[in-house]
Amino acid sequence: MIIAIDGPAAAGKGTLAKRLAKHFNFSYLDTGALYRAVALTMLRAKHNPSDIALAAQVSAHLDLDILSDPDLRREETGQAASQVAAIPEVRANLLNFQRQFASRPPEDKAGAVLDGRDIGTVVCPTAAVKIFVTASAEERAKRRFHEQKERVGHADYDEILADVVSRDDRDMNRSDAPLKPAENAHLLDTTKLDIDAVFDVAVKLVQSAQ
Ligand code: C5P
Repeated sequence: MIIAIDGPAAAGKGTLAKRLAKHFNFSYLDTGALYRAVALTMLRAKHNPSDIALAAQVSAHLDLDILSDPDLRREETGQAASQVAAIPEVRANLLNFQRQFASRPPEDKAGAVLDGRDIGTVVCPTAAVKIFVTASAEERAKRRFHEQKERVGHADYDEILADVVSRDDRDMNRSDAPLKPAENAHLLDTTKLDIDAVFDVAVKLVQSAQ
């Protein structure tokens, strides 16, 4: 069984996807981390993240060790990730890995949960459950502000909001696999819901598909 969780930056996809994977004993893939890995490799090599030829090359020979690098979570890396993610060659190079992960979970796992932007529309269009998680840009910026303040001791709300809005804009308006709900996705607006309430709704959706 495959569960596809999509939505914009900081909507709560990752938290929800991890909890669902644990609850149902499914494997979990954060597909945004793959784009972040390409972006961080580009930044470290001082390449422009929008350089098509270099991004294509990096994504074709991605060293997965970088997935555990703490710099992966930086906002600068997220912004560069959305730049490399707009390049069709990069998306094509990462597609196979994601599909294989989804279709071949380890033997002790009953299925897979993937979160990202195009899981329900492109990576796993036949997923048994598709959830599109959203929240207002202000609420997402507020959550990121608190998370960053806790992690590094300081944060600038206006800067974070501007980053969220520009990343949404780039992700929704690219021509290849733009961020949008799949036709049969369940929309979950988390602006006024806490994670427990979101999780309860999602568990019911998965149970009714089992
Ligand atoms: O989810 P996260 O913020 O880590 O994703 C970083 C960037 O990677 C996103 O802004 C988006 O541009 C890109 N991405 C994507 N498709 C996915 C997952 C992430 O284009 N399935």
